[in-house]
Amino acid sequence: MPATVLREQEGRVALLTINRPDKLNALNQQVRDDMLALLAEIEADDGVGAVVITGAGEKSFVAGADIGEFAGRSPFDQRHAMRSPRIFDVMASYPKPVIAMINGFCLGGGCELAASCDIRIASDRARFGQPEINLGLIPGGGGTQRLPRLIGLGHAMRLVLSGEMIDAAEALRIGLVELVAPADELRATTLELAGKIAAKSPLTLRVAKEALRASQRMAVEEGILYERDLFCLCFSSADKEEGVEAFLEKRPARWSGR
Ligand code: COA
Repeated sequence: MPATVLREQEGRVALLTINRPDKLNALNQQVRDDMLALLAEIEADDGVGAVVITGAGEKSFVAGADIGEFAGRSPFDQRHAMRSPRIFDVMASYPKPVIAMINGFCLGGGCELAASCDIRIASDRARFGQPEINLGLIPGGGGTQRLPRLIGLGHAMRLVLSGEMIDAAEALRIGLVELVAPADELRATTLELAGKIAAKSPLTLRVAKEALRASQRMAVEEGILYERDLFCLCFSSADKEEGVEAFLEKRPARWSGR
């Protein structure tokens, strides 16, 4: 059986492709397990500075949870299937930058997966939605929590309550994605940005992400103090010495990640 998640390496960028194109890359248990295993492997790999997540084929990023797994399932079995660690939470607190490369349908758990990433880049053919309401369900991977923080409560209400789909232009307008590229330029556009990020100091990237993520849970006064402490913590790193010296010597920095 082919792997449900494929791993490729482009320079310092790891590309993970959810590989169930015949089911529009719906997230079943196997995909979730394989994804968790690969994310753990990549976290420990110093050769990876950034991660890109996408879906196989032309049509879909991820069309949601595998609906086939819901039929006849008890609440206890569903709760077990949703036990921690969950891919959404692992990605939302991942120490390396994660970019969603959204190549098509981005629905339900797919939209929640994208919302758990740090940056979202969509093909102009991508379509987005939280259609769980049509199944007698609500989002269960952060769609009522991360999504409103990303796009605002009103837009999240509209998507979750109506179940309707929106196109890439509208997703860009409401802040659900940060960039849109023509379908045939999606990979190059994504890898260019991912490569640029992956070339920075891994240590500093981690601290920058931690500070930015804190803005989603802290009051601004508290967050500003936290940022000051993390900024000062950077002064203990070899990479801060190297970055400043490289600037003063007018040469590119050579990051050690220490
Ligand atoms: N779970 C399981 N299988 C799914 C799926 C999902 N979330 N989304 C699509 N598939 C399967 C279809 O059942 C079909 O399988 P089959 O060929 O064995 O019948 C295959 O993927 C292709 O999908 P199909 O519906 O034929 O494509 P389409 O272009 O007509 O429609 C969608 C595309 C995305 C509009 C439609 O597949 C859909 O509504 N999917 C469900 C989306 C959803 O509700 N997600 C939230 C889940 S909680």
